[in-house]
Amino acid sequence: MDEHVLETHPAWLAPGAFRALGRRRVRVSGDGPLADTVRDEVAWACARFGGSVSADGQPADLVLAISGRSEQADDGFLLSRDGEVTTVLADGPSGLLHGLFEVVRRGEAAFGPGPVAERHEPAWQRRMADHWDNIDVHPVMGQVERGYAGGSIFWRDGRLRADLSRVRAYARLLAACGINAIAINNVNVHATEARLLTERRGEVAAIAAAFRGYGVRVHLSVNFAAPMLLGDLPTADPLDETVRRWWARTTQRMVEVVPDFGGYLVKADSEGQPGPFTYGRSHTDGANMLAEALAPYGAVVHWRAFVYDHRQDWRDRRTDRARAAHDHFAPLDGGFRDNVVLQVKHGPMDFQIREPFSPVLAAMPATRLAVEVQATQEYTGQQKHVCYLAPMWSRVLGEAGRWVSELAVVANVGDDPFWTGHPLAQANLYAAGRLAWNPGADPVAVLDEWIGLTFPGATDGLRRTLHALMDDSCLTYEQYTAPLGAGFMVRPGHHYGPDVDGYEYTPWGTYHFADRDGVGVDRTRATGTGFTGQYPRPWSDRYESPDTCPDELLLFFHHVPYGHVLHSGSTVIQHIYDTHFAGAERVAAMRDAWRETTGLLDPAVHDRVTELLGEQVRSAEEWRDQINTYFFRKSGVPDLKGRRIH
Ligand code: GCU
Repeated sequence: MDEHVLETHPAWLAPGAFRALGRRRVRVSGDGPLADTVRDEVAWACARFGGSVSADGQPADLVLAISGRSEQADDGFLLSRDGEVTTVLADGPSGLLHGLFEVVRRGEAAFGPGPVAERHEPAWQRRMADHWDNIDVHPVMGQVERGYAGGSIFWRDGRLRADLSRVRAYARLLAACGINAIAINNVNVHATEARLLTERRGEVAAIAAAFRGYGVRVHLSVNFAAPMLLGDLPTADPLDETVRRWWARTTQRMVEVVPDFGGYLVKADSEGQPGPFTYGRSHTDGANMLAEALAPYGAVVHWRAFVYDHRQDWRDRRTDRARAAHDHFAPLDGGFRDNVVLQVKHGPMDFQIREPFSPVLAAMPATRLAVEVQATQEYTGQQKHVCYLAPMWSRVLGEAGRWVSELAVVANVGDDPFWTGHPLAQANLYAAGRLAWNPGADPVAVLDEWIGLTFPGATDGLRRTLHALMDDSCLTYEQYTAPLGAGFMVRPGHHYGPDVDGYEYTPWGTYHFADRDGVGVDRTRATGTGFTGQYPRPWSDRYESPDTCPDELLLFFHHVPYGHVLHSGSTVIQHIYDTHFAGAERVAAMRDAWRETTGLLDPAVHDRVTELLGEQVRSAEEWRDQINTYFFRKSGVPDLKGRRIH
């Protein structure tokens, strides 16, 4: 193992997590680069913890071998315990790698009495991280768009980093949580980054080489107008023969330098990015053209469904951004080539802390769908706040996961020494990978796994405190920020901190419609935008009536008076006051609980978390006061408990 790796925080591969394996006699059999990676991991762990690497025929406590059972999807493995020997029998080389990390996760338990044989395989074959990294530092967005953890781990000063050891360490982390694909650059593809497709493809090749040893395939975000930007063609019309030939040739050149190239990720006709609409063509025309260029290489196009009118008039109550993706894409079901994956944000708006699942997920049975979640905490505290998002993702997967065949997570890492700014935010990326492998996994159990790998030998007290801080942290965040499904009350542009009317009169389509009488968006079929009608039953009925709409989504679907009585028995206005006071109190309690863990973990991690909890307390109080004051002034209704509202 490259010692360089240890200059940054080891995240969920703390050396101590390898102790149980590293004390044993381990035999690895299998050929090829991934088997070599497994062998290196084992050799490193055994050198560190006193175990040994056994040759064929020698006794072993752990055997990692390939059965060659499956040619295609080779991520699966059988984990068994026979007498004193633990065996991982993998379907193929990548199964060997995933089997190794399963043994690491279990620690000593992998070598104790256990199940006789357990079959592991991922629910979804591709489990992807999307980076929103730029090569150049963007004047507004910085180097990583919506990044809260420093600069890009790939590029620095406009060039590929000379030392990619950090990228290799990252590949290892991704593999250890089950992620096997990565898009390396921002979906908003600016001029410099567009060139990764052509004259800068050598950089893609170098990055792909760093990921390859851990079985992670590299994908590239591309600009739909690339034939014009880079190829001097007069058009990017997807039905134009010269355009098609340009993409075929360009793709072939990419594959020459990246033989296992994963494919393209495309944001088209969205927030100003070019797309097929310019030529009067459809999203199917656009996606299928790229898919055709990629098909000979077993590569895919991820085509994003995040398409809406971002030049809306707030006076126009009939246009509803929540409807847009379904309006655009549902009619296209069945029209996409096999190697097109339509990538759909998990909610109909944009990664708010509370949204219903996107109805697009339920509307396209003849299309391959990826659900997109955001680990980077754009709207959820920007990695200054503790906000473990897996319970929210897990809820979406529970409702809509059956229609999906991939998960893509917008990554939250940068060149920060802790990878994610807030050290506890590492858990979000870890959990995204684990949920992509097993969408039914319990998010709290996943968190517990992450704690074990990140803080090996954690005392019960530390473990308890981490759970107390993190298990329900997304509910806490929701309490002090967004009541009852009303979103986007953030400061425009950077999206940190409260500004209730910040987006209310802008073209972005993100309104709450608060006035002196009530608040919320009427999205019903009966009197509103009709959005509820995009859902199948039972959701279409459930959301249509305030009587059956869950409290937490009430203001997403309905405009109601402040005195409206919730299922909880409280009124809307009293709920707003109560949750905002309670949320801020919970954050203060988190900070106090964390103090008790001094001395139980790496002081550098402890200090960073302490500092950030200070900011979270400040910010939660600001949210509490601004939201409560706003709605008190609008409604004139006093708090039943007589607390101070400014
Ligand atoms: C959000 C985000 C943008 C991003 C966009 C997307 O709107 O604020 O920075 O580009 O989502 O997902 O494409």
